[in-house]
Amino acid sequence: MRKTIIGNWKMFKTISEINIFKNHLDMMIDDKTINVEYGIAVPSIYLQYTVELFKDYKNILILAQDAHYKENGAYTGCISYTQLLDVNVDGSLIGHSERRTMFNETDEEINKKVMTLSSKNLTTVLCVGESLDDYKQKVSVQIVISQLKNALEMVPLNDVKNIIIAYEPVWAIGTGIVPNVSEIENMITEIRNTISSLYNQKYGNSIRVLYGGSVNINNIDDFLKLENLSGFLVGSASLKGNDFTELLMKGSKYE
Ligand code: PGA
Repeated sequence: MRKTIIGNWKMFKTISEINIFKNHLDMMIDDKTINVEYGIAVPSIYLQYTVELFKDYKNILILAQDAHYKENGAYTGCISYTQLLDVNVDGSLIGHSERRTMFNETDEEINKKVMTLSSKNLTTVLCVGESLDDYKQKVSVQIVISQLKNALEMVPLNDVKNIIIAYEPVWAIGTGIVPNVSEIENMITEIRNTISSLYNQKYGNSIRVLYGGSVNINNIDDFLKLENLSGFLVGSASLKGNDFTELLMKGSKYE
């Protein structure tokens, strides 16, 4: 399967920086032929601008970083899945650890978001991952599997095709510290086994499962070799157009 590489811009970038990023992509890659599924999760204020800017790119996914599960309502500061659809956004990250920890997002809310977005054919990048404490206490697998099961509760088989899972240990995000390759491999296997038991083996094998946390142009090759890993969710290394294109080019060499 082609690798999937998604950049998470978090609360970074201005219009002029987005334009510079786009110029890099124009110079370095051919969207029509690049052998990788790829996307960027953009601050909500720039979603519409970015969709328009990349309108000639047929393969790039323009994603939000969060979306509300209600169609509309009195939710100051939120954007709804309906509004994403209205401006042709392809989907959203859901349950990123920064949302879980800084904005107190619960498993229950994440479940509602996953259920709604995936049912509307929006690409839903469900983020799961254990804290440093969990890791030290050797309960990473239990924590991640429980987050996964809670997020997928009642999500029907038919909508699972719209879900991408991103395993991001919280202690690896923005720290420059990454798990061993074998730790990632084991967790991806656990995630796939859980999907097989919740749905079926076919989905367990085919669902896209990404790793995220301090991935960059220097360490990506180590992880690209992992056969059960579908790709990456990349934060800081996705901000610079030349680094991001290098990640895409490296990823495009793998099936
Ligand atoms: P990082 O962020 O690549 O900067 O560690 C990853 C993420 O938060 O998705």
